[in-house]
Amino acid sequence: METKTIIKDKHVCTIDQLSSVENQEVCLQGWISNKRSSKGLFFVELRDGSGFCQCVIDESIVSPEDFEQAKVLTLASSVRLVGKVEKDDRQIGGYELKVNEIETLQVVEDYPISNKEHGIEFLMEKRHLWLRSKRQWAVMRIRSRVKFIIHQFFQERGFIQTDAPIFTGNACEGTTTLFETDFYGEQAFLSQSGQLYAEATAMALGKVYTFGPTFRAEKSKTRRHLSEFWMIEPEMAFYDLDMDMDLIEEFIRYIVLDIYNNYKSELTILERDLTLFENIGTVFPRITYDEAVEILRGEKDLDGKNALKTLEDDLNSVKERKTACLADIEERETAINAGGMKKGAINFNRNKIDKLKNEIKDLEEKERNIPQWIESAKNFKHGEDFGGSDETVITRLFSTPVMVYKWPKDIKAFYMKRDEEDDNYVKGVDLLAPEGFGEIVGGAEREDNLDLLLERIKEHDLPIEDFEWYLDLRRYGSVPHAGFGLGFERIIMWLTNVSHIRETIPFPRYYGRLLP
Ligand code: 4AD
Ligand code: MG
Repeated sequence: METKTIIKDKHVCTIDQLSSVENQEVCLQGWISNKRSSKGLFFVELRDGSGFCQCVIDESIVSPEDFEQAKVLTLASSVRLVGKVEKDDRQIGGYELKVNEIETLQVVEDYPISNKEHGIEFLMEKRHLWLRSKRQWAVMRIRSRVKFIIHQFFQERGFIQTDAPIFTGNACEGTTTLFETDFYGEQAFLSQSGQLYAEATAMALGKVYTFGPTFRAEKSKTRRHLSEFWMIEPEMAFYDLDMDMDLIEEFIRYIVLDIYNNYKSELTILERDLTLFENIGTVFPRITYDEAVEILRGEKDLDGKNALKTLEDDLNSVKERKTACLADIEERETAINAGGMKKGAINFNRNKIDKLKNEIKDLEEKERNIPQWIESAKNFKHGEDFGGSDETVITRLFSTPVMVYKWPKDIKAFYMKRDEEDDNYVKGVDLLAPEGFGEIVGGAEREDNLDLLLERIKEHDLPIEDFEWYLDLRRYGSVPHAGFGLGFERIIMWLTNVSHIRETIPFPRYYGRLLP
């Protein structure tokens, strides 16, 4: 294009600042995230990182050259737009820009991600671009906020932030999920957890927490496992299991309330059902592992609800919803095929149909899964660890997160303190999030007796010499202490209700995914 507008000397601002410049002329810089046209008008949705804003380009206002520019703007094209900020309550941010000048930085050809539904594998290949979409934008903002308020929570309560090494010489959470690496010719592992080091710093600083990356080689593709994830691990001297559980509850409630109160528009973009956040003030139930097993097997009802019966009801609702979706698709297809529908309406209906088809895929997965869940719940053997589906079945009966404590010692890590009443059990706790999200926190009171700890290390077949430094913590001034680990991506997954944990971290690493 020969005559190109270059914008100079304008008041540049970002979309999140628009409320302070109402009725003024400003310059927004960003990318086109949507574009619709009407006679003599273009409605461009601009995103600039800080938000989304509808910008109206009116042929009767902009120059003919700029209107020509507007015609060629495509999805993801980068622009500067000058215009007047007007209040419009129908818009997400509450404002609209009435454009009077356009500067095009780049017109994009064939942007791979359109505003229609894409398959998940395709989107993962294009993760570096997918991050620009509105849902991902909302997830990443919530992630950033949660990171900030986690620090705030602990700092307000006198905890000291401390760091654990990433190269480690010993296993913390069992030897089956270790990533092995070479450390100057010596065998080393990427840290599975910073806990053992947090215990050491707690003996120096009292109440501490770590917030760092951790690694688990999980050769399975579940929707809840990453190979690289972030963990928050508080560790407190002179805490027992009850105090640990009190802290977990206060901590999780603090995070949920902050997001619920301050991130409403992101939660709206994510279509998050907020009922459970509204319940977050309710005391989190604490049940023992034994009680959880009874509930799971349908041997014990909870407030008149039976786990297996609830699942059967769920299965029926899934079937009903599937029938409704199929009918809806048919109705829309018939209407499109009848002809006479406007192009915009056809696109709208096609998009709805794609969405419904995706929903049907999810429903069909549930239709296959629920009967299996019922079977495995009925046959659950006491002493085994709960699988993802078992956690779903248990939490289905609760409207808040649930704590399961007092676990059989054989399925828990070596460092957990044995229960005083029955030494087949340990003083560990898992926090299970409702809505099928399952375990988000794992914690315990630690074994503080040197001899018992030694016994446990031997039972677990771990090399004593690598744990000598850790045993020193029990030799020199051992005290009761406890802590827990919150899976950072797990809580983001629950808060944002994304269907797979890979959407909660900018560049996920999991079995089969190393690029981008
Ligand atoms: O239950 P875990 O294995 O406990 C520990 O690592 C303890 N050392 C924590 C402590 O007491 N300081 O892991 C803690 C949490 C889990 O509850 C889960 O939320 C998350 O870390 N997690 C994972 N998140 C994503 N991908 C994985 N592969 C995860 N494995 C555990
Ligand atoms: Mg665990």
